[in-house]
This record gives sequence, structure tokens and C-alpha cells, in this order.
Amino acid sequence: MAKRQQRDFRISRRKFLAASAAALCVPSIGAGAAAQTLSLSEACKDMFLIGTALDFRTPNEFTPAELDLIKSQFNVITPENSMKPGPVHPQENTWNWTQPEALVTFCQDNHIKTVGHCLVWHSQTNPWFFQGADRDAALARLKDHIHTLVGHFKGKMSGWDVVNEAISDTAGATNGENLRSSQWFQIVGPDFLTQAFKFAREADPSVPLHYNDYNIESGAKHQSSLLLLKRLISDGAPITTVGIQGHWSVTNLNAQKFEQIEQAIENYKALQLKVAITELDVTITGAGGGQLGGQQANVVPPSAEALAAQAEVYAKLFSLFVKHRDAIDRVTFWGLNDRRSWRRGQNPLVFDGENKPKPALQAILDAVNKAK
Ligand code: G3I
Repeated sequence: MAKRQQRDFRISRRKFLAASAAALCVPSIGAGAAAQTLSLSEACKDMFLIGTALDFRTPNEFTPAELDLIKSQFNVITPENSMKPGPVHPQENTWNWTQPEALVTFCQDNHIKTVGHCLVWHSQTNPWFFQGADRDAALARLKDHIHTLVGHFKGKMSGWDVVNEAISDTAGATNGENLRSSQWFQIVGPDFLTQAFKFAREADPSVPLHYNDYNIESGAKHQSSLLLLKRLISDGAPITTVGIQGHWSVTNLNAQKFEQIEQAIENYKALQLKVAITELDVTITGAGGGQLGGQQANVVPPSAEALAAQAEVYAKLFSLFVKHRDAIDRVTFWGLNDRRSWRRGQNPLVFDGENKPKPALQAILDAVNKAK
């Protein structure tokens, strides 16, 4: 095919998708019949859990429409912030249980599972953990933190992100685990991860335990993750699951990236680990790393063409997840809707700021039904 013709074909396909997106007058999600036919968790129920991330910062945090959305679309919730070391354990003898308990109670009342996030992180951790601490003191504080938090919710959780984001973004001089130079790493050493997994297992003998990170599906960070996971397993860390966060963008999810994601799932499966997609969002504009940032201000409504491109990418992702459903046990979106997203302004989720389904929702449902 001549170059000109190829370009024309691409343009007309894009236009076709954009037109389909515009034509998709998807009904609002509510408690009625529409919720049944458009439910993500219902469509994926025999394959993997479908999650969202949120917190009850106040008792009236969510509107009735949002509550409907949560209950009709998702069967597992991750606390977006409230169980992180900083918010939940600001001082050695101070615990903030109100928000985490509100979330767990809501989940129990509505037959929704809860995944804890996260026990050990370089970020959102208060200085008291490290003040005047040598290795033994830091480990004692870590043990107490994990025993208390995991113990508090024992029997009520479907999993815990035990260690979050321990691998550095900057490729090291030598290929290796390339662990981030966090205070945990500096004070305790590289075995802080194994210790954390063991403390979590002591506190709850049966809950699944995850290592969770971003950008570990490709490149040097993927190789580092394999080395790290192999070491954890050989050191006896009771790890069950690896969490690929999945903070992606329409532009970085190209053919090569899809191959890398698939290869990563296969590589983790070969280590006898389950895989979860733990923080999925696909921005329409902007980069797709795990970094904080992105526009926070006025949201420019995306064009029909941009929504169609996002729908196409989400559909491809879910086709891949369904193909590997033997390894994948959960797919969690990081946020409820485009307004309640750390990347608000980049329109990353499948419900818009008014809780209306975007074309991505129907595209995912079609892809799931086709791939089943
Ligand atoms: O609650 C306070 C509020 O009282 C205060 O007025 C306000 C002022 O800035 O801050 C509020 O806290 C913010 C918190 O979100 C709750 O909204 C923090 O500043 C803000 O830093 C925090 O951001 C969270 C971020 O993690 C912190 O690292 C995002 O909501 C959360 O989505 C994000 O989630 C992380 C995952 O845990 C790990 N993977 C990457 C992912 C995205 O960064």
C-alpha cells in the first residue's frame, strides 16, 4: 500500500473510532438495569476482581451517584491514602483509625473486599520511624507498625501491599536490584523487605502479601524487579503477589509496551507469583510514569477522538489481562472518576467527572466479552 493510502486508512479508522465514541450515548450508571449491563466487576467476575482506590475522609465523602458507582462497578477497594504509614501512624504512640475503619466497614457492609496499602514506603512515612534509630531500633519500630496495623484488620483484608516502590528510577551503574536509597535501605539494609514480609505474615497467617511498584513491566526496572523478587523468594519472604501499578498513558502504550507488559506477566508467573494490576490509569495527555504531578486545575474536556484512542488502549489492555487471567487476580483503577484522580486534568479513568461512563468502559466490556 502506498504511503499516502496508508495514512488515509489510519485517519479514516481514527475518525471512525471517534465517531463511534461520540455516538455512544452510554446511559448513566445507577442502581437500575443499566448497572447490571454495564458493570465491570460483573463482566470480569469469573476472571479477576475489579477495584478502585478511595477513602472516606468524611462521612459524606461521596454523593449518592458515586456510591452507586462504587457498589455497581467494583468488588474490591484500596485505601488511596489512609492506611499509609504517614496518615495512619503519625507518631509512635498515635494511630488514626477513623478513616481506615470507615473504609473497611463500608466494604464489609457492601460485600466488597479491601486491599491494604501500604506497610512500607519511602514516601508518606513520618520521621519518628528513623529518628536516632540504628538497624535494630528501626526494625523494632517496623515490626510494631506492621503487627499493629495488619493485626488490627486481621481477617478483614484480601491482601496487603507490604513494600511499595523499593526500586530506584535511575538505572544503577551495575545491573542489579538497584534499590532506592530510602531511609529503610540506609538504616536497615536490603533485607528490610524480607523482614517486612515476615512481620506481616506473623500478624496474619493467611492474608496475601504483595510487592507493589511502577514501571516494573519494562526495561532495567523490570530486570531489577526479577532479581529482587528471586532474592525475596530464596530468602523465605512470604510474598504471594507482584503488583504492577499501571500508571500509563495513551501515548506510551505502544505495541512494544504491550509486548513488554505481557512478557512481564509471564516472567512473574514463572516465579510462581500472582500478578495484580494495582493502580491502573491511562492518561489522555501527559507522561505516564509513577511520579506525582500532572495538571490539577481546570479540566479541558477531551475530544471524541482522544476518548476513542483511550478506549482502544483500555480495550487492548483488558484483552491482555483476560488472556492471562490464570495469573492475574485483580485489576484496580487508581481512583473512582476523572475528578477523583491524582491525575485529574489528564482524564485517566473510565468514568468522567460526572460519573458518566466514557467510551473506554464499553470498549473494555466488549473486549472482555470477546476474549472470554
Ligand atoms: O489530606 C491533606 C489535606 O488535609 C491537606 O489540606 C492537603 C494539602 O495539600 O493535602 C492532603 O493530603 C494529600 C493526600 O493526597 C490526600 O488528598 C497530600 O498532600 C497528597 O500528597 C496526597 O497524594 C497522594 C499521593 O499518593 C501521595 O504520595 C495521592 O492522593 C495518591 O493517589 C498517591 O497514590 C500513589 C500510591 O500510593 C503509590 N503509587 C503512586 C500513586 C500516585 O502517586
